[in-house]
Amino acid sequence: MLIKRRYGWEIPEHKVTPEALFLNRRTVLSGLAGAALTGIAGPARAEGDPSQGLYPAPVNPAYKDAGRAVTDEKYNTNYNNFYEFGTSKGIAAEAENLKIRPWEIAVDGEVDKPFVIGIDDLLKKVTLEERVYRHRCVEAWSMVVPWTGFPLKKLVELASPTADAKYVRFETFNNPEMASGQQPGLFGTMPWPYVEGLTMAEAMHDLTFVVTGAYGKPVAKSMGAPIRIHMPWKYGFKSIKSIIKVSFVKERPIGFWEQLQSSEYGFWANVNPQVPHPRWSQASEQVLGTGERIDTQLYNGYGEFVASLYQGLENEKLYM
Ligand code: MTE
Repeated sequence: MLIKRRYGWEIPEHKVTPEALFLNRRTVLSGLAGAALTGIAGPARAEGDPSQGLYPAPVNPAYKDAGRAVTDEKYNTNYNNFYEFGTSKGIAAEAENLKIRPWEIAVDGEVDKPFVIGIDDLLKKVTLEERVYRHRCVEAWSMVVPWTGFPLKKLVELASPTADAKYVRFETFNNPEMASGQQPGLFGTMPWPYVEGLTMAEAMHDLTFVVTGAYGKPVAKSMGAPIRIHMPWKYGFKSIKSIIKVSFVKERPIGFWEQLQSSEYGFWANVNPQVPHPRWSQASEQVLGTGERIDTQLYNGYGEFVASLYQGLENEKLYM
């Protein structure tokens, strides 16, 4: 993510990868080559993960084809945004510090009965399936990912929210000992934990996916193990990783990036090629791994499924 430096706790622009680098395939490739030389590249490792036997899961035929080739796994596991482990794209080695067992998820707020559930118990209550989704970052790069998981609406059903629940708020761990990016840095501490939110209608939409695996195995640590979400019609920053809390709330949650820079990152973050980011165009995107530059589509091409979610909300900033 790119942020404009305005406050002491914001990262200076020279410390984040400038946009030009996101858009330059050679740089991406040479970065991966460098990672290989230092021994951090390669497919995700999942040794010791008790959920390993659940993968690969059957492909849901409705989402078996995203219209583009699946991105090679090495890009997805080595070119990441996971600020808990650093501000560069090359956090895969650092993210190996993520301890994914035991892993508990608290479900609370406006629900009949709050509860805490371990990831392996949760996995016993759901049916895993594979879905191939397009994944579009606000930084104008994209991938195609074979995720494994289950629709978020299943978790909502388990939580049994009350009529007062208007939004779902997700929270990532906050553990500076484990995650070096959460330690105070040169310019202070970022507003940890990473938080994101959805409306109840968005949470109940069939496309909204809880991800526990990818590429036919438990999801890699760098990609947000052991549990994250993915909404393919929204910019990637909404797809929060390594979730420890799911809260049903009355008020609209303020996400991590909105808190950092509300003039550039908002609540809705629906993909729209005609609404530029304040500092760059969203008209096209760099497809990682292929060198292609393609036109970006409204709602990342999922408009026929999701546009109706936003009827009557035209006065909202739906595309930032
Ligand atoms: N979740 C957490 N907890 N921390 C993060 O830094 N980055 C977000 C999102 N979820 C982020 C996060 C951003 S900006 C993007 S684009 C996607 O994760 C990147 O997912 P990927 O690394 O699997 O491609």
